[in-house]
Amino acid sequence: MGRYVISGGKKLKGALRVNGSKNAALPILAATVLNGSINVLENCPKISDTKTALDILRHIGCETESEDKVLIINSSNISKTEIPEELVKKMRSSIIFMGPMLARFKKVTLYYPGGCELGKRPIDLHISAFRKMGAEIEEENGKIECFCEKLRGCDIELDFPSVGATQNIILAAVLAEGTTIIKNGAKEPEIADLCRFLIKCGAEIEGIGTSEIKITGVKNLKAATHKIIPDRIEAGTYLIMTAAAGGKITLENVNPIHISPLIDVLSKMGCKIKKYTSSITLKSTGHLINIPFVQTLPYPGIPTDIQPQLTALSSVARGLCRFEETIFESRTAHIPELIKMGADIELNGNCEFTVKGVRRLRGSEVFARDLRGGAALITAGLCADGITVVDNSSHVERGYEDIVEKLSEIGADITLKI
Ligand code: UD1
Repeated sequence: MGRYVISGGKKLKGALRVNGSKNAALPILAATVLNGSINVLENCPKISDTKTALDILRHIGCETESEDKVLIINSSNISKTEIPEELVKKMRSSIIFMGPMLARFKKVTLYYPGGCELGKRPIDLHISAFRKMGAEIEEENGKIECFCEKLRGCDIELDFPSVGATQNIILAAVLAEGTTIIKNGAKEPEIADLCRFLIKCGAEIEGIGTSEIKITGVKNLKAATHKIIPDRIEAGTYLIMTAAAGGKITLENVNPIHISPLIDVLSKMGCKIKKYTSSITLKSTGHLINIPFVQTLPYPGIPTDIQPQLTALSSVARGLCRFEETIFESRTAHIPELIKMGADIELNGNCEFTVKGVRRLRGSEVFARDLRGGAALITAGLCADGITVVDNSSHVERGYEDIVEKLSEIGADITLKI
């Protein structure tokens, strides 16, 4: 288990290229199962979650090749329909293989991913949608066995616009018989990217980027080449880190529209931001002012995946900010760690807390309990006095490619000790 050692207080200055999106790459990697062909995915991030997705693909019989950020997946010789428990447990979003496996092979066995630091994270919306499409699903001791004679398109209204459930239903519906209409679907840009890949494969999908998505099943899908969209959460994280530490950063390969609510918050806090077609420049004195209220919401609201990093920033901004987390039932594991560093945060239940900015945080030894919480602790370390040690780099490595190299390039003093 690695640990990041950060000597805080250095201004960040320079340019970084944002990677391809983790949350777009993972469902598209699962989608390659559908066509039994050779798929070329460009701009894939080199992170441990994509390695896990490739492990799953290889386990079921795909041949994979990689050259830098290009992944080639040949899904023509898939021989297994079981996804091993250790891989599902390693990456919760392995559940995204359920839809495509069921659609192409009419059966799949996998395991319940279980809870995590963000709360219970059930998969009931995925399961009830597949049942409605004609799948029989048996759950016993954490094992989920699904089979069907065929999947039938139908109307599915989601109780909550779950990103994973929307993607999983789309992945099943593209090869189902008839038409599926998803109502109250999620609108995240990563879902639109998945749809664009599937359309290149020959899928029929309407309503992309809206909450009502219509999918007309086709008999077969063909090979495709696709470039993954930039990672809006990685981009947001580096903007927040620079806002907290102070300095000037230019991010290249970013879609400013995908992070416009965050840009809005950072501007109101006092950062100077310039947006271009595919780049952003942020300038910060490191002495910012809190806005009174931040609420996480489904896209296009403030993403829950940015809340921990914003909490760290808010800890060193002047004044009070009340946070409300509306997506996950408990996404606060970073808060006790920030408090160890001198942050003044009061938790009001699981989903609400108030941050009262302090002048400086102090370097401390803290523990990353989840991916974005880890990024929040690095953010805090970059602007704290003295040395911060963030234990448990494995979570951060799930979602940030070469974070140490990138931060070092722009002037941070950070090393990874194994
Ligand atoms: C995806 C993202 C994750 C992000 C999240 C919310 C990927 C790989 N992960 O996760 O980074 O934080 O969207 O933007 O893209 N829920 C249910 N039943 C279900 C499914 C979800 O109750 O069957 C609940 C969850 O417990 C959670 C909420 O819905 O409270 C949102 O979850 P969801 O949108 O499904 O998140 P993921 O797809 O798991």
